[in-house]
This record gives sequence, C-alpha cells and structure tokens, in this order.
Amino acid sequence: MNIIVTGASRGIGYATVKKLAEKDSHSIIAISRNGEALEKLKDECAQINSNARIIPFPFDLVQGVIIDELEPLVREYLGSVDRLVNNAGRMINKPFEDFTEEEFDEIFDVNVKSVFNLIQSVLPLFNENGHIVNISSMGGYQGSAKFPGLSLYSASKGALTIMSEALAEELKEKKISSNSLALGAVQTEMLGEAFPGVQAPLKPEEMAEFVAEFTLTGHKYFNGKTLPVSSSTP
Ligand SMILES: NC(=O)c1ccc[n+]([C@@H]2O[C@H](COP(=O)([O-])OP(=O)(O)OC[C@H]3O[C@@H](n4cnc5c(N)ncnc54)[C@H](OP(=O)(O)O)[C@@H]3O)[C@@H](O)[C@H]2O)c1
Repeated sequence: MNIIVTGASRGIGYATVKKLAEKDSHSIIAISRNGEALEKLKDECAQINSNARIIPFPFDLVQGVIIDELEPLVREYLGSVDRLVNNAGRMINKPFEDFTEEEFDEIFDVNVKSVFNLIQSVLPLFNENGHIVNISSMGGYQGSAKFPGLSLYSASKGALTIMSEALAEELKEKKISSNSLALGAVQTEMLGEAFPGVQAPLKPEEMAEFVAEFTLTGHKYFNGKTLPVSSSTP
C-alpha cells in the first residue's frame, strides 16, 4: 500500500512507521522537520523489512507550501495514496489566561490547519477504499476528563475530530473513509515535555501497534467515527 505518515521523527509516528514496515512491504512517505531522524527511521525499517520502501521527507507542515512541495513528491514516489495518518501534533501546557495569540496559532496551525491542507492536497491522488486516520486526543473527546493547561491543545483536537467526522460524509461517494483516534496518554517526548514526571500506561510502540493495524484495516469497520483509545481516561 501507499501510505503517508506525518510526525514520523519521534514518538507515536516513528513507531507507527516501523510497525507498518514490519507488517508488509508498504511504500511510506515519512514526514517531519527533522531529516536526520527520518533517515534513522529509514535505516531501522530496512533492518525490519528490506522490501518496505521508506521515503523520508523533511518538511515543515506549517511553513511549507504543501500543495507546491509535498503533492509533487507524493505523485512522483507513490503515484496514488491508500492511507494517510495525520499524526504530527503540537502541545503547549499553560494556564488559559497566559496563552498568547501566537501560541494559539502555533497549536492550531499544526493540529488543524496543516491537516486540512494535507488532506486537500492529496485527495485527488486517493484510491478507492482509502483511509484517512487523524490522531486526536482524549482531551478533544466530548465528555472526557479535561486537564488544566491543555485548553487550546484539547480545543484543537476537538476541531480535528469534528473535521474528520464531517469529512467522512463528504468522501463517501469517493469510497474514502475518515476516522480519528482519540488517544490516551503515551510515554513520548511530547508528554514528557508538557508533564515532566508523569508516567503513561503505554509506550509509543504499544500504541503504534494499534494505530498501524487500525490504519490498514479500521475502515472496514468504522467511518466518520472517533474512537477513544484509552484504558484509563473516562
Ligand atoms: N503522547 C501522548 O500522550 C498523546 C496523547 C494523545 C494524543 N497524542 C497525539 O499523538 C500524536 C503524536 O504525539 P507524540 O506524543 O508522538 O508527539 P511527539 O513525540 O512530540 O511527536 C510529534 C511529531 O510531530 C512532528 N511535528 C510537529 N510539528 C511539525 C511541523 N510543523 N511539521 C512537521 N512535523 C511536525 C514532530 O516532528 P519534528 O519536530 O521533527 O518536525 C514529531 O515527529 C500527536 O498528534 C499528539 O497530539 C499524543
């Protein structure tokens, strides 16, 4: 399959690309700003499955012009797209009254606007039975327990979730599914930076196993859905 994964330089995205490579000989465009980490990921995937094709693409999803830079690369290396995992994310933990407008934009640009731009750019290249997976958060899931400091992060994930649900309706005729996964806490650098000392119940590799399998097969069972993926958060 032809797959695009954003936020692949570390954490859940990095581990998800490895799991996908382990499962089959997919062609995967791996995106993040850190090119060195993507090259390391490519080498590690080659050890796991030498037939998997990892195409590292160092790219800033906010500063870069997706339609000009990313879309031609997808055309050249993949030709068409079967799976898109919008995993790149930005979290800032701060009291609501201290947030600046710049920080608001920083969070929403990565978590919502870049996803809109990316989906719109690659939609014409999507195959039937395609699946768009948007990585959301339990914080952005209606009725879940909320965390002080994550007002804007949670709001951005809520926006992503609803965009994902609404998009599924519009893409039905094209036979492209769109789902979002509202993840609970995972022990990544993002979590460690925002909440020093907090211990999450899952490692990135454990969550990645679920994300990778859901990306490949979840559209058979779900469309326009947001799945809470947490064993602890109500
Ligand atoms: N960890 C958790 O507890 C948790 C819980 C719920 C949901 N999530 C969500 O899961 C996803 C992955 O989280 P994580 O914990 O693995 O985070 P992470 O370790 O901070 O990784 C985030 C990834 O996003 C990329 N990224 C950020 N801004 C970017 C930009 N402007 N352009 C391109 N890439 C960018 C980063 O790459 P570069 O810095 O190299 O660009 C990095 O690869 C996020 O959407 C997050 O909100 C995480």
